[in-house]
Amino acid sequence: MTVIEVHAEHKYEVVVGRNILSNIDTYLSGVSRVAVIHPESMRDHAAKLRLQISDVESIAIEVPDAENAKTAAVLEFCWMALGKAGFTRNDLIISIGGGATTDLAGFVAATWLRGVKVLHIPTTLLGMVDAAVGGKTGINTGEGKNLVGAIYSPIAVLCDMNFLDSQTTQDYVGGLAEVIKCGFIRDEQILVLLESDLVGAQSPNWVHAEEVIARAIQVKADVVGNDLRETLGTSAGREILNYGHTFGHAVERNEKFTWRHGNAVAVGMMFVANLSHLAGRLDAQIVTRHSDILSGVGLPITYNRGTFNQLLDAMRIDKKARGAKLRFIVLEDIAKPNILEDPDSALLIAAYNKLGQSD
Ligand SMILES: NC(=O)c1ccc[n+]([C@@H]2O[C@H](COP(=O)([O-])OP(=O)(O)OC[C@H]3O[C@@H](n4cnc5c(N)ncnc54)[C@H](O)[C@@H]3O)[C@@H](O)[C@H]2O)c1
Repeated sequence: MTVIEVHAEHKYEVVVGRNILSNIDTYLSGVSRVAVIHPESMRDHAAKLRLQISDVESIAIEVPDAENAKTAAVLEFCWMALGKAGFTRNDLIISIGGGATTDLAGFVAATWLRGVKVLHIPTTLLGMVDAAVGGKTGINTGEGKNLVGAIYSPIAVLCDMNFLDSQTTQDYVGGLAEVIKCGFIRDEQILVLLESDLVGAQSPNWVHAEEVIARAIQVKADVVGNDLRETLGTSAGREILNYGHTFGHAVERNEKFTWRHGNAVAVGMMFVANLSHLAGRLDAQIVTRHSDILSGVGLPITYNRGTFNQLLDAMRIDKKARGAKLRFIVLEDIAKPNILEDPDSALLIAAYNKLGQSD
């Protein structure tokens, strides 16, 4: 078991390991009522959890699966359930599910009575290393993904790796893209461990799985602790977590959100590694290290399904863009991210053209 501390609006811990939910009582002191928010796929786990904490009154709020949970209508449904149960400031929301569930539940907690406590139990690798840690919560609207939300930190995040055993390899590997990102932007030891067994790394039962997951969470905890609200705007700020995401988001949009987020981020990291190299900032060997690790764990490293102009338009409307200027987190070395603002379009096209090649 590994415990990571996050220093946000308040200090909280992220626990990673197997069979860690047996200690959940630790987080219930002073709590009079619990609402467990979960999708249908987690119904049995939610019921088991409620039995385990039967000293405290609890309700279950079942929400739609995946992105279908992140709507204003589901938010209102949750508020209604809390209202009916007479949910007060002494009560606790527990989320069990993937990143969509923790995003929704976090926003429910942020908004009910202007803020009640929330504890996340992420059940996917992406949820553990990204969505449930860092305090970003929210829902989608007709205008786009994650446009409405709040920064609202949980009281704890419990990452029980037993959940990961039921993820498909593709879904688990999709989550690994964010782990690999953390290796490139901050913690080379993640890359070293992955390189020691790129095939074994594709399973949550791998001998180093807990270590790479915990290390990735530590990277996010450190970055978020330094810049919770993404105000620094320098190479030290939260924006570095966006490595690979500007192009990755454009791919997701171009593919009408049918691609796994991690696959899009993998291609996005390849794009921006190429861009960093072409801009004279990154050694070619590190670009090759990207392609070796990403493809080695089974993530895509090529993309040529769209004209560059389409992707450029999609990048320009990315919510992370500032005004009309495109901004990329580029890499100057392992663990040395920086910002490249408004690069020459010839450079962008050259980086894109390289994505069509597999070498
Ligand atoms: N808040 C943040 O900082 C942040 C960061 C990254 C991603 N996100 C959000 O996270 C969401 C994506 O997260 P996700 O990939 O976890 O998606 P998800 O919550 O949509 O879950 C994906 C699917 O996996 C299923 N599932 C969940 N746990 C499972 C398990 N243990 N075994 C088998 N199936 C399981 C779910 O029922 C769902 O069908 C997006 O909404 C994204 O916007 C948020």
